[in-house]
Order: sequence, then C-alpha cells, then structure tokens
Amino acid sequence: MSYFKVCSLSLLSIDKPQKFTVDGLEILLVKALTDNKVWAFDNNCNHSDKPLEKGRWDPEKAEITCPFHKAVFNIAENGAVKQAPACIPLPVYQTEIRQENNENIVYVFLD
Ligand code: FES
Repeated sequence: MSYFKVCSLSLLSIDKPQKFTVDGLEILLVKALTDNKVWAFDNNCNHSDKPLEKGRWDPEKAEITCPFHKAVFNIAENGAVKQAPACIPLPVYQTEIRQENNENIVYVFLD
C-alpha cells in the first residue's frame, strides 16, 4: 500500500481521461471539474474486460460510459454502476496533489 507518483497536474484535462500504467495497473486520470482534485479509476470495464479509455467522460457528473456496451460508472460515487450491463462498481483510487519544485504532481494510492 503506497502512493505512486504519476504525472504533472498540468498534463491532465477535465474533459478527457488519460491512461497511465502505475505499478502494472492501467488507470485513467482526469481533472475534476471543481476543486484541485483528480479522479483516478480502472481502465478496465468489469462487464466484459474491455478498456474504458475511449469511453465518454461526463465532467459534470463525473461519469464514464463504456464504449462497448454502454455501462455507466459514477466516479464521484466510488465507481457505482449507474447503468447496466455492468453490475460491479469500478475501482476508484485516492489521489493526492503534492508541490514539488514549484510543480503540482499527482500521486495515486494503490493497495
Ligand atoms: S465491456 Fe463495458 S459495458 Fe460491456
């Protein structure tokens, strides 16, 4: 269990999640619409083991729609399923932003 350094906050946008591989795990990172916060969640849709990276991100609701069978997960609600066919919440990870050398760096907590 620990925090992993991922990237500079300036590399992230609010409207398109970006893929990173952290400790062997593919995750998506996107800036939250409000606050100085970053959402981090699995790139793998648990309905049929497909990547979410080309899914539609709704920054207002913090929801990702799977591009394959349209399952919807709410990241702000701990990955809760909002629309079938998925039925298991998507893993969501804690993030932290740390100041390093006058730059905001994003860390993700993986257990
Ligand atoms: S693989 Fe995501 S909804 Fe089917």
